[in-house]
Amino acid sequence: MRIEPPKHVHEGGAMQADAAPRRLADLNVEEDPGTTPGHDGVHVVLDDGQMRVRARRQAPTFEPPGGEECVGVIRTPFTELIGIEHPVVCAGMGGGHTGGALVGRVSEAGGLGVIGASFLPPQEVESMVRRAREITSKPIGINLLLHATQDRLDEVLDLEPVVLSTAWPRDDQDLAAIFAKAHERGIRVMHMVPRVEDGVRAAEAGADVIVAQGNEGGGHVGEIGTTVIVRQVVKSVAPIPVLAAGGLVDGAGLAAALALGADGVLLGTRFLATDEAPVEAAYKGAIVASRGDDTIVTTVADTLSGRDWPGAWSRVRRTRFIEEWLGREPELRRRRDAVWAVLEAAEESDPDYGVMWIGQSAGLVDSILPAGDVVRGIVAEAEEILRSRLPALLRERS
Ligand SMILES: Cc1cc2nc3c(=O)[nH]c(=O)nc-3n(C[C@H](O)[C@H](O)[C@H](O)COP(=O)(O)O)c2cc1C
Repeated sequence: MRIEPPKHVHEGGAMQADAAPRRLADLNVEEDPGTTPGHDGVHVVLDDGQMRVRARRQAPTFEPPGGEECVGVIRTPFTELIGIEHPVVCAGMGGGHTGGALVGRVSEAGGLGVIGASFLPPQEVESMVRRAREITSKPIGINLLLHATQDRLDEVLDLEPVVLSTAWPRDDQDLAAIFAKAHERGIRVMHMVPRVEDGVRAAEAGADVIVAQGNEGGGHVGEIGTTVIVRQVVKSVAPIPVLAAGGLVDGAGLAAALALGADGVLLGTRFLATDEAPVEAAYKGAIVASRGDDTIVTTVADTLSGRDWPGAWSRVRRTRFIEEWLGREPELRRRRDAVWAVLEAAEESDPDYGVMWIGQSAGLVDSILPAGDVVRGIVAEAEEILRSRLPALLRERS
């Protein structure tokens, strides 16, 4: 029997595209007069172990300039290849973690928004693409998790994204054939890898861009940290453009990635904490509240869903549900149906009892922002670091 994951708590769970956050009321919200919770910024603090939410934006460490003022000057082989202004990508997060508004706003701001098509009905993906295209005529991408959804390839290519984003193939899948189908239609292929061998395999199969993903990231990850895997992949697949993913949220992350030899960054967790992300307020609030040490890599969520991910752990928030089942996967496998029911019932009233895929990067996210501001803020901060901070460190040899 195929078990469908519950809504909003699983990478395979379906959510309404662009659904308005609806769980802020479940939390302890203190409104700051003149601000709108979930729009103008929500600040979450831990207070005696209780998660409390204040609808007041915490002073950001860096103020991005307004949309029109932000002129992109960081050009890389990736931006040139895809035809975008900024080397910043919103990850294609499946199961309803991305939506048309999020993807459209990221692309309209000059980055690349990617729709996560896995575990969603085709009509929902189509409607997300339509929504994104209402917002922007700039490039967008669509992501497929190959081990689970290769059969959706033609349908996704028919939607004519500029980029086909792929990840997590099984060893027996023919990447060259998959990538060739995209290339026949003039679609670029961006493939994500957790190990250098996987990067070389994708490069040999004809990928146009390789995303090197580190273990710090949210969702399914491998075992190697971002700084190491990015450097390994850069060295192994040159001159193919490489993006860095995992643990990156801001301009410092972009500048660091560029220093490692990458051509841009791909972010998941940061874009979940945006106004447009189609996940609940409690999910966004958990990211803002996180100090980065409340996540864990585990197979509990996959044991629950019954999906067999090749070579992957998944990084999730360490909720009471996860703690309850850690080390008890065989029993979880046996009682899957009953546990789903308990989980779904609890989710309605308890945002701390569930499955939320977030990365350690959550420890660097302190406010919920419009997605376009995230893109503009990242590039403006990176530019400032490259122009001022780093050159100022260089001195003439005496
Ligand atoms: C909720 C969630 C769902 C994800 N779903 C997918 C997916 O469907 N396909 C994919 O290639 N990557 C997926 N990822 C992984 C991202 O592509 C990316 O590697 C990761 O988020 C980077 O780490 P960060 O969260 O620290 O930015 C997902 C990540 C998250 C947080």
